[in-house]
Amino acid sequence: MKNIVIAVDGPAGAGKSTISRIVAKKLNINYIDTGAMYRALTYNCLNQNVNILDEDAVVEASEVVDVDFKDNKIYIDGICVDSYIRSAEVTANVSNVAKIKRIREMMVNKQRQIGLKSNVILDGRDVGTCIFPDTNNKFFLIASANERGRRRYEELIQKGENADLETVIDEIKRRDHIDSTREVSPLVKADDAIEIDTTHMSIDDVVEYIISHIKNQ
Ligand code: CDP
Repeated sequence: MKNIVIAVDGPAGAGKSTISRIVAKKLNINYIDTGAMYRALTYNCLNQNVNILDEDAVVEASEVVDVDFKDNKIYIDGICVDSYIRSAEVTANVSNVAKIKRIREMMVNKQRQIGLKSNVILDGRDVGTCIFPDTNNKFFLIASANERGRRRYEELIQKGENADLETVIDEIKRRDHIDSTREVSPLVKADDAIEIDTTHMSIDDVVEYIISHIKNQ
């Protein structure tokens, strides 16, 4: 029997990672946060003072590093970078790294390799359209921009960071715009994905909805 592959795509703050992590635990399958890989490359470039708008330089710095997961944590060349990849600086720059064709080719290859090893749930922007277009289990999570901003704002406040709600909403809209209008695998719902508007749903409701719609390929 083929492995189960569950694709969860959607814009920033729609709840993809929270929900995918819980579904993975409940079904005892692997979880891959594909966004963490683009964030790790962005962190690596910023760390090396690479100009993010210089595509060749970003590719050059990224080709020589190994990005991988171990115990649900992201590593660059064997060093865990999990606690650095969600900084405001990485968040502000990641979409410009993720829109580069060569960067996407490298990451998609890697995501397929990791994904094919076991039953898995992946969250991101192009899981159902590009990484695993043949899977029968595709979900597209959305929520209003205000609600998505509010959730991200709460997360930041809980982490003890300084945040301003309007700024967080604007940042989310700016990132969504870059992600949706880029040339290579832009953020769009796959035709056969089930769209879930999570604006007024609890986390548990979304988890149960997804689990009840999973097909064994
Ligand atoms: O958690 P959040 O929704 O804020 O973002 P993320 O999933 O960590 O992804 C960060 C960024 O990586 C996105 O804004 C996209 O620019 C990029 N990304 C992508 O292009 N393709 C993916 N499969 C996942 C993320």
